[in-house]
Amino acid sequence: METVLIKDLAKFVDQEVEIKAWVANFRSSGKIAFWQLRDGSGFAQAILSSTELDETKWQELQKVSLESSVKIIGKVSKHPKKEEYEIQVSDFEFYQIAEEYPIAKKEHGVDFLMDNRHLWLRSSHQWAIMRVRNTLISATYDFFREHNFIKIDSPILTPNACEGTTELFELDYFDTKAYLSQSGQLYLEAAIAAHGRVFDFGPVFRAEKSKTRRHLTEFWMMDAEMAFVDLAENLKVQEDLIRFMVSAVLEKNKAELEILERDIKALENITKPFYKITHVEAVKKLQELGSDIKDGEDLGADDETILTKQYDNPLFVTHYPSKIKAFYMKRDAEDESKALCADLLAPEGYGEIIGGSQREDDYQELLKRIKEHRLPEDAFSWYLDLRKYGSVPHGGFGFGLERIVAWVCGIPHIRETIPFPRTISRLNP
Ligand code: 4AD
Ligand code: MG
Repeated sequence: METVLIKDLAKFVDQEVEIKAWVANFRSSGKIAFWQLRDGSGFAQAILSSTELDETKWQELQKVSLESSVKIIGKVSKHPKKEEYEIQVSDFEFYQIAEEYPIAKKEHGVDFLMDNRHLWLRSSHQWAIMRVRNTLISATYDFFREHNFIKIDSPILTPNACEGTTELFELDYFDTKAYLSQSGQLYLEAAIAAHGRVFDFGPVFRAEKSKTRRHLTEFWMMDAEMAFVDLAENLKVQEDLIRFMVSAVLEKNKAELEILERDIKALENITKPFYKITHVEAVKKLQELGSDIKDGEDLGADDETILTKQYDNPLFVTHYPSKIKAFYMKRDAEDESKALCADLLAPEGYGEIIGGSQREDDYQELLKRIKEHRLPEDAFSWYLDLRKYGSVPHGGFGFGLERIVAWVCGIPHIRETIPFPRTISRLNP
């Protein structure tokens, strides 16, 4: 008999099927037992009755425990009221009868759950989050394929910093030092001269000593880079991408968003244009809202929270002071103190999900910045080369996948958005 997936049960009503699954919950009342099955694709209830099963099987099923793995055969029926399917079991077999499961139904502290992350992943909330994450990843690939980008894989072992040098993981690399990549951006800038529009998507590393609900030391970044674009075109691509990603989740993950009790209305705003304000305007607004941020200062995590609670859709904050931004950002010709850049902040208090900018494309200017930032010139010689051989106006952006997952799922902490989170205080499991 063919094994079917729980998500496909609707196609098999009144038919006999085989399902391979785990017992996520069970109860019994006299001559009838109910198993809540989970097979990865969904959840369904199995009904086992002493009239359907022979005496040996009926005795055997009494051994069931949480998370036992089973193969069952039974007839599919639709729940009389809900969009749920049940299986009237005619036969079953245990793969393994699980030992006492550490994650019982009672409340556990988050540290306990994180220590048991390898098991916690099975719970319905965590299941739903990973499914949304998967949709966001697939949608990213789909979007770029449809917009003539090609994927260029940037290296993880690098000889220099991309972002702040204080946040680098350093390691011994034979007789020299190497650093774990903070972003593949610089390599993508090289690739645009070959391919025009490119993106990468992979793990990046930040030795950030920040212990916040938004910071991981290892996270997944997608960098995109485009030749011949200005800041406005760059923002347009970001807006289209985020809209496409959120729409994909709304379309494909209804059940998951329901499990997460996500307010769908808040995500449906995505069809409206995103907001756009300058850094000067953002600071002014924050001061009015009671923040102690000073003119020209970077937005702190709390500032992003206060600010984005005012908005019902993502918000671009543009033209940050160049002295608080990365060395590679091009300056605004109309005001040299400002960078041609934007951060995209997610609403509802979530804050920054994308950082992007126009890149400095002039050799002399870029060399000056590298010196000002006291970066090792020789490690950047290849990057400077790009400004010697057919330099073009260009720009790009990078998103942090986990920040987007947190916002879309409506969960407060980033640690649940990645299968095995790495933070300053966690490397296990
Ligand atoms: O703003 P960031 O530092 O920008 C860059 O790295 C650029 N080189 C990207 C580019 O232009 N290609 O990082 C980009 C995004 C942030 O907006 C945030 O979403 C995420 O990466 N991010 C983090 N996510 C989790 N934990 C951290 N410690 C993060 N740091 C940045
Ligand atoms: Mg940033």
